[in-house]
Amino acid sequence: MMNACAISAWFRMLMTTLLCGMCGTALLSGAAAQESRVAAPAAGTLRQAGEARHLTIGTAAAASHLAEADYAAILGSEFSQLQAENAMKFGPIHPRPDTDPNPYNFVSGDALVAFAQSHNMVVRGHTLVWHNQLPEWVTKGNHSPAQLGEILHSHIKTVMAHYASKVYAWDVVNEAFNDDGTLHPTIWYDQPGIGAGTGTKYIELALRWAREADPSAKLFYNDYDAEEVNKKSDAIYAMAKRFKKNGVPLDGIGFQAHVGLHFDDPAKLASFARNLKRFAKLGLELHITELDVRLNDSSPASLAAQAKLYGEITTLCVQQPKCKLLQTWGFTDKHSWIPGFYKGQGWALLWDDKYQKKPAYEAVHDALAK
Ligand code: G3I
Repeated sequence: MMNACAISAWFRMLMTTLLCGMCGTALLSGAAAQESRVAAPAAGTLRQAGEARHLTIGTAAAASHLAEADYAAILGSEFSQLQAENAMKFGPIHPRPDTDPNPYNFVSGDALVAFAQSHNMVVRGHTLVWHNQLPEWVTKGNHSPAQLGEILHSHIKTVMAHYASKVYAWDVVNEAFNDDGTLHPTIWYDQPGIGAGTGTKYIELALRWAREADPSAKLFYNDYDAEEVNKKSDAIYAMAKRFKKNGVPLDGIGFQAHVGLHFDDPAKLASFARNLKRFAKLGLELHITELDVRLNDSSPASLAAQAKLYGEITTLCVQQPKCKLLQTWGFTDKHSWIPGFYKGQGWALLWDDKYQKKPAYEAVHDALAK
């Protein structure tokens, strides 16, 4: 027979098991959880391993995939952050001009936020100022610089206000620099733009508008091929340093980290670490925002090499105290941007196209748990 003490201990154990089950499966909801074929995570999720390191583990997601049970089950249990892969970009979210009675479309973005909230995940916003995925009413509107300024200001204000207290950080400006460190000619910068001849002034303006729109959001500049110390990262560093000195509201830098196996080079990895360190010294928060490692095939050797590189990049973030986010650009090879953009390449993510964990998953988990 159990005494009162034993009963109470048994009850506590039962409750702990139930509660842990809830965090492990992150409150999997409804049909998605019941129908999923994905095995319940046994030895702890990426999310749990990240929590132990005070590291957010994120992924990009699309609302149109949430109806897939396996997709939803993995997204809601393995990750502590969700970022819209496309839904919050200018074109999808602001498809019609402000003169239209219904200029915005928040449907997909709201669905992603609702999913994240119901799975106790934070949401990171992407992106407010970018030259890609713009609607024709902007690109073909023949707007003057003054009109473009009004359009962008009002866009930032409306989108950030809509997601205030739901989106904790935004990629305010995305990919503004060329590889040689010069500014990319864009409709926002100088085509005709709002900043021709004034360098990074338009980026500063966007950051100030963003701070005004949601003072509690963390504001990021985000770019690719700026992982290593190179001309592009030098230009971003110079801008960030200037912004910090002048009180421009910049809270962090996003390093996209879309890489191939060529990146698994001690010199490149050391350069990435050095680069993170110099940005950290400016007091900025550092996020790895779009990590994926593309392959030419899915042979065991390629998958092993991919795993090694994923592990090494994870370790870089773990070892840099200002690195607070490790995020992959999607999580299943079934839905990755790589095959559509790099012909013949793919297999870039942590789960394969059948939602089975790849060696890279274990490598990231091990690097977090080390
Ligand atoms: O939504 C339309 C759909 O209505 C249409 O039928 C279909 C036909 O092609 O296109 C759909 O839009 C596509 C969209 O993804 C949603 O799937 C666009 O054509 C396609 O160009 C777009 O690609 C996105 C790309 O950004 C655009 O440049 C990728 O999904 C997305 O992963 C990628 O993400 C970027 C980051 O935002 C910034 N850093 C680089 C990263 C990879 O390119």
